[in-house]
Amino acid sequence: MGKFQIFTAEEQQSLREAGKILNECLAYMGELVAPGITTKELDRAAEEFIRKHEGATPAFKGYHGYPATLCISVNEECVHGLPGERVLKEGDIVATDGGVMINDLYTDACRTYGVGKISKEAQKLLDVTSNALDAAVAVIKAGVHVGTISATIQEVVESEGLTIVSALTGHGLGKTLHQFPDVPNYGTANTGPILPAGTLIAVEPIVCTGKDGIKESADMWTINTKDGSLSAHFEHTLLITEEGCEIIA
Ligand code: MF3
Ligand code: CO
Repeated sequence: MGKFQIFTAEEQQSLREAGKILNECLAYMGELVAPGITTKELDRAAEEFIRKHEGATPAFKGYHGYPATLCISVNEECVHGLPGERVLKEGDIVATDGGVMINDLYTDACRTYGVGKISKEAQKLLDVTSNALDAAVAVIKAGVHVGTISATIQEVVESEGLTIVSALTGHGLGKTLHQFPDVPNYGTANTGPILPAGTLIAVEPIVCTGKDGIKESADMWTINTKDGSLSAHFEHTLLITEEGCEIIA
């Protein structure tokens, strides 16, 4: 088994600062999302926004050679969508996933937005995925097993007839972007590693309307649903406390 990273009070302050910038950045993306804008334009605006803050850098840029600030995943794209010339259009759903680094510590969060008026099916997908994340947050505190988080997400998603994209998981983070433990979006309550206070995890349900399965794309980054169905992604970076958890971003 791996080892949980525990953060000092000072490190926790850096994480809060980074998280605040990331929250504001993703909210700003929500305001910019509209028919006609390209994903590259959103990415550029996010990078400028983050770099305006002294000491803050886009955490994804350069990570394993990743060339952008955000991962922007539209419709059938599940995660790691590479920003480019794709023009958003009315009815699309767009996941804006970003990270902010301060004092060499990583944060990671994602919100999925509708572009203009979206279908009932798409709105349900957004609501259920976001609700699954909220339900997970509600059960998290020191002493909880990772499997309890996983089972909570699975229950919310499957009871609504939607599908977990099972190959994609949440993760520990801090001194690296992806570290122990994995936080799958399906599993069994009261199994798996037990969370200690003072550690950090990214919980990120990735849900689709069709069948479970992914397919890589030609750009080598973007991961799509195999069947082309719609996919949504919400993610929080959470600091574990004795009483519950603090939403860092
Ligand atoms: N939020 C993404 C994840 O947890 C971070 C991707 S970083 C990238 O996988 F460099 F791969 F884009
Ligand atoms: Co993540």
